[in-house]
Amino acid sequence: MPSLPRFESHPVFSTQTGPHAGLDALLTRHVAHPFQKPIAAYNRVAFDVAYSSWLGAGKPPLILDSGCGVGLSTLHLAERYPEHLVIGVDQSQDRIGRNTVWSRPAPANSLRIRADLTDFWRLMLEAGMRPARHYLLYPNPWPKKKHLSRRWHGHAVFPSLVALGGVFECRSNWKIYTDECAFALARLTGESVEAVPWLPDAASTITPFERKYLGSGQALWRCVLEIPTGSVGITRQLLGEPQPGVGKYPA
Ligand SMILES: C[S@@+](CC[C@H](N)C(=O)[O-])C[C@H]1O[C@@H](n2cnc3c(N)ncnc32)[C@H](O)[C@@H]1O
Repeated sequence: MPSLPRFESHPVFSTQTGPHAGLDALLTRHVAHPFQKPIAAYNRVAFDVAYSSWLGAGKPPLILDSGCGVGLSTLHLAERYPEHLVIGVDQSQDRIGRNTVWSRPAPANSLRIRADLTDFWRLMLEAGMRPARHYLLYPNPWPKKKHLSRRWHGHAVFPSLVALGGVFECRSNWKIYTDECAFALARLTGESVEAVPWLPDAASTITPFERKYLGSGQALWRCVLEIPTGSVGITRQLLGEPQPGVGKYPA
């Protein structure tokens, strides 16, 4: 079995000792007042590439790898789920174009797109493009208390992420991040969900950050929820009554 090289990555430091006390109120605010920031033109262009690829492939089940970085996880997931189209999205052109560790051709069912997720998720919702599985792997932790709203579950776009549905999984090396994410998912869906240890072996690590944290001896955490279609309540709040087939994107 392959072993990991040793890394020297420091655990997340924060003055927070548990989930942020302000998260509940922030979520209430974000559900009541949907995120309205105008969608940037470059994200529409990027989304159209993703949508056309999905349509061209015959609308296979989708896997979304949000914040994929260099996209190593996108490639691994595409190999693991050959019947799915796996779309990795990252805002960094530099990262998305880099490939230092994958020696085989990229699987044909994988696609890496440069876009800002705060727009991309809303465009997916609008177009009725739903992931069967959605991965958010090792997002930036933003560990300072005052940066709660920079964490994905504290961001105003989070209800849109939940409304997309699918089997959602967030992994982090900061337990508080996954505890908060689980809290936010439970709050918006009414489901019970909690963060649990994630214990991959060297062979089953799929992202550079996962390898780095594991190789540094850090504990890893994840929360997973099959978001119930009942969360359509959130979709309605965000979009009005669903009207499949209307507009630019056919049903
Ligand atoms: C800590 S890295 C993790 C990368 C990868 N998932 C991994 O585990 O190796 C977080 C990634 O999220 C991306 N990211 C952060 N905010 C984003 C946004 N608004 N839209 C798209 N990508 C974003 C960053 O560019 C970065 O590549």
